[in-house]
Amino acid sequence: MKKIVVLTGAGISAESGIKTFRDSDGLWENYRVEDVATPEAWENNYELVLNFYNERLQQLDKAFPNDGHNYLTKLESHYEVQIITQNVDDLHEKAGSSNVLHLHGELRKKRSQVNPDYILEIDKTENQIKKGDLCPWGQQMRPHIVWFGEAVPLIEEAAKLVEQADIFIIIGTSMAVYPAAGLIYYVKPGIPIYYIDPKANETPNVSKNTIRIAEKASIGVAQLVNELLEKAKNAN
Ligand code: OAD
Repeated sequence: MKKIVVLTGAGISAESGIKTFRDSDGLWENYRVEDVATPEAWENNYELVLNFYNERLQQLDKAFPNDGHNYLTKLESHYEVQIITQNVDDLHEKAGSSNVLHLHGELRKKRSQVNPDYILEIDKTENQIKKGDLCPWGQQMRPHIVWFGEAVPLIEEAAKLVEQADIFIIIGTSMAVYPAAGLIYYVKPGIPIYYIDPKANETPNVSKNTIRIAEKASIGVAQLVNELLEKAKNAN
């Protein structure tokens, strides 16, 4: 089976009602990113940060995968599919994708501030990280999110996966945030790269031979998946 590696960003979840980061007026869900998504924000006002991510978590319960997520799962009948997502939502999993790597963390998890390997699922009934929820080392548990200015621990693993791709697909990301955007440089020469995003023709940070599909995820992913499934069936 050929291996497809898919890099997704906020745009794939836009039609599920989750706002992207850079499409609006610089505010994200009415917050300034610096006030809620940086280590400094946590230092200055961890309660605000907790509230913000608890709100996002509750929003997630009302969000459902759209055709973008759903069509990707269909590829698994004829390809080995690895998704690398920059999104912290769980919509790829909800859709039924088998292999999802979350580069920027996961809303449904919390972790210790002092031991980054101490990571827990957030209790489903509580559905929040509470003030006073302490790790075994006596510190407040924090969201399992990679904030601005923090290292991306899974980037090397992601780069290795991209190197193995026979086909690389990028969906709904502005390709503005590194190191995630740099993953495209790990694609082996000659491997087809597709880029599905309404602004696909405006983004400079993709290689010259990238096939650009300037559509919303629900339309563009459905089209490309059908095309790739046809190819796989004809090859058999
Ligand atoms: P951005 O907000 O930067 O980009 C969203 C992209 O989605 C844009 O290119 C839009 O054109 C596209 N888009 C909008 N609606 C779409 C739709 N219906 N279908 C497909 N695409 C659509 O979000 P990201 O590139 O994901 O990091 O941002 C990367 C990272 O920056 C995020 O993971 C986050 C943020 O800071 C962290 O939280 C660490």
